[in-house]
Amino acid sequence: MKQVVAIYPGSFDPPTNGHLDLIERGAKLFTELVVAVLRNSEKTALFTADERAEMLRECTRGLPNVRVESFEGLMVDFARGCKAQVVLRGVRAVSDYEYELQMAWMNRQLDSSLETVFMMPAGRYAYLSSKLVREIGSLGGKLDGLVPAQVEERLRHRLGVATPADK
Ligand code: PNS
Repeated sequence: MKQVVAIYPGSFDPPTNGHLDLIERGAKLFTELVVAVLRNSEKTALFTADERAEMLRECTRGLPNVRVESFEGLMVDFARGCKAQVVLRGVRAVSDYEYELQMAWMNRQLDSSLETVFMMPAGRYAYLSSKLVREIGSLGGKLDGLVPAQVEERLRHRLGVATPADK
C-alpha cells in the first residue's frame, strides 16, 4: 500500500479531546501523522507553542506513528519539509466548512501537490472548541470529558482557578 504522510496543523490552545479523536482517526489512516502546532499566534495564546506541543506529546504517547512538531510561517512550507502529501483538518459542523474550504483552496493555490482531507470527530465533540474550553476553564466550570486530565490540570494552573470539586 502507498505510504502517506499527513500533517495535522492547528493552534491547539489547548488540545481538546476532539483534537485527540481526530489524531487517533488520522493515525489509523496514514502511515505517519505529524501534528503541527502553530507558533505564529504565540503572543495572544494562553499556552506557548512548546507547552502545547508538550501536552500533545503526553497525550499521543501511545500512538507510534504520530509525531508532534511546532512551526511558524506558511503551513505548506512546513508540510513540504515533512514530505507530507496530505493536510488533515477536522470539520465539526457546516459552520466550519466555509473557513476550512477557503483555507484548503488557498493552500492548493500555494502548493497544488498537497491534498486537504477533512475528517469528522466523534459526534460528542461536535460542539467542542479550544475557545470554549478556555472560557469554561476561566470561569471554573467542569471540563470532564472535554480535555485530557493533564490538560485540565495545566489549564486550571495557568488560569489560577480552583477545580469545581474544590469549590
Ligand atoms: O486550529 P486553527 O487555529 O483553526 O488552525 C489554523 C491553522 C494553524 C491551520 C492556520 O492558521 C495555518 O495554517 N496557519 C499558518 C499560516 C498559513 O499557512 N496561512 C495560510 C493559510 S491558507
